[in-house]
Amino acid sequence: MKIALGCDHIGIKLKDAVVAYLASRKFELNDFGAYEFDKDDDYPDVAFKVAHAVANEEADVGILLCGTGFGISIAANKIPGIRAIPCNDLNSAKMAKAHNNINVITMGGNVITPEQVAPILDMYFNTEFEGGRHIRRLNKISMAEHSTLSVQSHGSGRVVIFNHPLVQHKMGIIRDVNTSVKQFRELVQEIAGLMVYEITRSLPLTEKEVQTPIAKTIAHTIEGKKLAIVPVLRAGLGMVDGILSIVPNAKVGHIGLYRDPETLKPIEYYCKLPFDIEDRDIFVLDPMLATGGSSAEAISLIKKRGGKKISLVCLIAAPDGIECVHKVHPEVDIFIASLDSHLNDHGYIVPGLGDAGDRLFGTK
Ligand code: PRP
Ligand code: URA
Repeated sequence: MKIALGCDHIGIKLKDAVVAYLASRKFELNDFGAYEFDKDDDYPDVAFKVAHAVANEEADVGILLCGTGFGISIAANKIPGIRAIPCNDLNSAKMAKAHNNINVITMGGNVITPEQVAPILDMYFNTEFEGGRHIRRLNKISMAEHSTLSVQSHGSGRVVIFNHPLVQHKMGIIRDVNTSVKQFRELVQEIAGLMVYEITRSLPLTEKEVQTPIAKTIAHTIEGKKLAIVPVLRAGLGMVDGILSIVPNAKVGHIGLYRDPETLKPIEYYCKLPFDIEDRDIFVLDPMLATGGSSAEAISLIKKRGGKKISLVCLIAAPDGIECVHKVHPEVDIFIASLDSHLNDHGYIVPGLGDAGDRLFGTK
């Protein structure tokens, strides 16, 4: 486990105790200071450094120390993806992990003694996040982070939400019941195309020398990575061209599934994947993640055929769908344009956009 540690001039009283505890657990430590007493240092400076390290996944957990643990947690919570709470007693450490899945723990040098540090950290690191209803609540909190991208990782694969104004504007139009089939189809492609920028963000780059008209330079090229996109029929087809317009060399597989209207369970009727699926970065496409049954089954089918590195790309998800997919496939990153409220009695997403397949193909 990698820990990012930071403190100000009062929190420094607890620092030796924290370092000793981390060493006893053999945790890897990245120390962002303060390294010595300086009465004029400001806790937000170190809070932002530690919070960025956690949000960027350079550290699994952050520990921040100031006078009370209060101000430094307020500062850390300004960084999207950070959940920081002061834990100056055992119950706070337990509940902050079990219900809030905090990724930054803060403590106060004027509130607790160095002897209290190890039991509090023990309680935090030995408590499991309970998941369930708490995931739904954490997701709602994350949605309030008004960035163009909200990345959540609550102990499983990431959930990446595109809050970009262009995407949200187009989502507003496709939700509208009066939008025509033609416009709906065009906008689904456009949104999928815009999402490609983020879903491909972690593709590795290599350097190569290029001669420009002016000089030689080192330019970047995407490392021989192979992509596959796999739409779930029917509605996933609506996203294919938008993605191929940006990554035209991706291979396309198809999985045919429909939801039994009574049981809401997925029924498979088709599966054809690229022959070298095991070597490819795979993006499963389905606009709607409702109960999650269809997407979870599609991912299982791909794994059975050798697929390994799989992400899921949807337009709208319900919290139930995210929970279902991550229960079966905890490592899968889920990219969505909107996290909606809940499912109705018929398993439709509320507010959602209705039946995506029917709206794309005009079948109702
Ligand atoms: C829709 C949608 C998803 C599925 C989502 O497909 O396109 O595949 O429902 O629901 P779930 O998360 O509860 O499984 P549908 O069964 O309507 O088939 P279609 O795309 O062929 O219309
Ligand atoms: N499938 C859809 O197309 N829409 C929903 O809201 C749920 C499942």
